Amino acid sequence: MTITFIGHGYVGLVTASVFADLGNTVWVIGHTKEKIENLKKGIIPIYEPGLEEIVKRNVRAKRLLFTLEYDKAISSSSIVFIAVGTPSRENGEADLSSVFEVSEKIAQHSTGYTVVATKSTVPVGTNKKIKEIIEEKKNPKAEVDVASVPEFLREGQAISDTLNPDRIVIGTESKKSEKLLLELHKPIDGNMVLTNIETAEMIKYAANAFLATKISFANAIAHLSEVTGADGLKVLEGIGYDKRIGASFLSPGAGYGGSCLPKDIKALLNISQKNGYDFGLLRQVHKVNEEAIKRISKKAKKVLPDLFGKTITVLGLSFKPNTDDMRDAPSIPIIASLKREGAKIKIYDPVAITNAKKIIKDIVFCKDPYEACKDSDLLIIVTEWNEFKQLDLNKIKKIMRNPAIIDGRNIYDAQKAKELGFNYVGVGR
Ligand SMILES: NC(=O)c1ccc[n+]([C@@H]2O[C@H](COP(=O)([O-])OP(=O)(O)OC[C@H]3O[C@@H](n4cnc5c(N)ncnc54)[C@H](O)[C@@H]3O)[C@@H](O)[C@H]2O)c1
Repeated sequence: MTITFIGHGYVGLVTASVFADLGNTVWVIGHTKEKIENLKKGIIPIYEPGLEEIVKRNVRAKRLLFTLEYDKAISSSSIVFIAVGTPSRENGEADLSSVFEVSEKIAQHSTGYTVVATKSTVPVGTNKKIKEIIEEKKNPKAEVDVASVPEFLREGQAISDTLNPDRIVIGTESKKSEKLLLELHKPIDGNMVLTNIETAEMIKYAANAFLATKISFANAIAHLSEVTGADGLKVLEGIGYDKRIGASFLSPGAGYGGSCLPKDIKALLNISQKNGYDFGLLRQVHKVNEEAIKRISKKAKKVLPDLFGKTITVLGLSFKPNTDDMRDAPSIPIIASLKREGAKIKIYDPVAITNAKKIIKDIVFCKDPYEACKDSDLLIIVTEWNEFKQLDLNKIKKIMRNPAIIDGRNIYDAQKAKELGFNYVGVGR
């Protein structure tokens, strides 16, 4: 099948490459000349494990084609996926300007029968608006059906998530478009949820809202355990064995971040407000998350009552391991708060430093964790990269000025760290 993806970010480039690898001819339309020229050479604009290899392989096989132009790609495609960003506006609502802009362009170039499927996370009713835009602008001879095919991949394991999804949600307005989408997804194993467009749009927000709720619940229980003397990690382990609850997303830490949960929670709150429903539960989920992030710098102030002039090491900047994505990463407000108190910050992250440099200024970027810990008064683990899990803590203790760790992701054995002589503070214990 020949298909098109508009947008070559974490969603567009990964899913386009996987469909190309499955034997389809896949056009990817971008809007930045430099990025498109790089992609043609196999140079990718994001970090995602294993992605560069798949892109290169499919570019060589001429199954993955990058372009700035709509005409050839759209007119030759049976399905056109919209995978552009839908960031938060000031009031929390999803900014759909890119979605609508590309919808117009699709309309102008569609010929024959085309399914326009939205992968971007969009509020209920958006695909209806896309349909209106396309109907108004398209050639009367062209026939277009819209569909909602929300994406659930996780950065850092996006390729395996695309090939082995928990479910594939397909919301359509016609049997014809459903059949085409099912045919494309045939080689991919996963529960199929076939439904209408509005339901598919809502499933994506409901999933992210529930995941955020689990994380905030874990963080609230962890905090309560800390102040009452319970072991929060054991409490969460104890409830996680219950099949009705499940253990995933119950790890307390420095709060959730990233390009999806914070923005989608804000967008769902905005949708609720517009529809006259006060989603109080979700407001609290957001509030608990902000508190969890703030609590890391509060702990720093407890360990070092006067932060002015102190050197603090932050390990891990991306919002989670195995990605360079810095969008809404908890490291940003944590570092800002420490800087406000006059601390000097040294940081290290395996892949996010290039993106971080665009956002975080006046800090020392280091080439490895040990350089970052040298002469430091406090080490804070913000992202649980594997390479931090077995650092030589003996060596770190020797090179730090003051052996103290705030383990924002509970990656170290508290007992061992204390035995080594660290002032160790975890989350929930
Ligand atoms: N990143 C994730 O883990 C993830 C998971 C599931 C769903 N989503 C959703 O998928 C969508 C895309 O997310 P992402 O993380 O891939 O974003 P991204 O910022 O990495 O990628 C967005 C892409 O859209 C392109 N783009 C923006 N405006 C454009 C325009 N006018 N014309 C052509 N291209 C344009 C950008 O150049 C970029 O390639 C969002 O709605 C997001 O909520 C993301």
